Amino acid sequence: MNSIAKIAEWTDICAVDDVPLRGARRVRLAGMEVGVFRNASGRVFAIDNQCPHKQGPLSEGIVHDTSVTCPLHSLVIDLETGKARGEDEGCVKTFEVALQSGRVLIKMEA
Ligand code: FES
Repeated sequence: MNSIAKIAEWTDICAVDDVPLRGARRVRLAGMEVGVFRNASGRVFAIDNQCPHKQGPLSEGIVHDTSVTCPLHSLVIDLETGKARGEDEGCVKTFEVALQSGRVLIKMEA
C-alpha cells in the first residue's frame, strides 16, 4: 500500500512535550544535529542546528513567531524556509515535520 511506503520516509525524533513552548531541543540524527523548535502557538519546526554564519547552536537561540535568533551574533532564521531574514544572508536545511500521537516525526531524504 502506498501509505506504508510513505511512513517509511518519516523518522520519529522525540515527543512533542520534549520541546518546550517558545523553545527548542537538539537531536542527533544520522551524523547531523537537528534543531527542533516549538513556537508560542505550538507549531513545530525542524532545521539544521548550525547557524550559517559561524555554526552557532540555533537550538539555544530565542524562538519568536516563526523565527529563531541565533544566540551568538543574532542572525534571525526563518524556521519555515531556513533562510536568514532581513538584510542578512545564509540558509540552513529545513525538514518537513509531522505530529502524530504526541510524537514529532521528520521526513528524511531517502
Ligand atoms: S553564528 Fe549565528 S549569527 Fe553568528
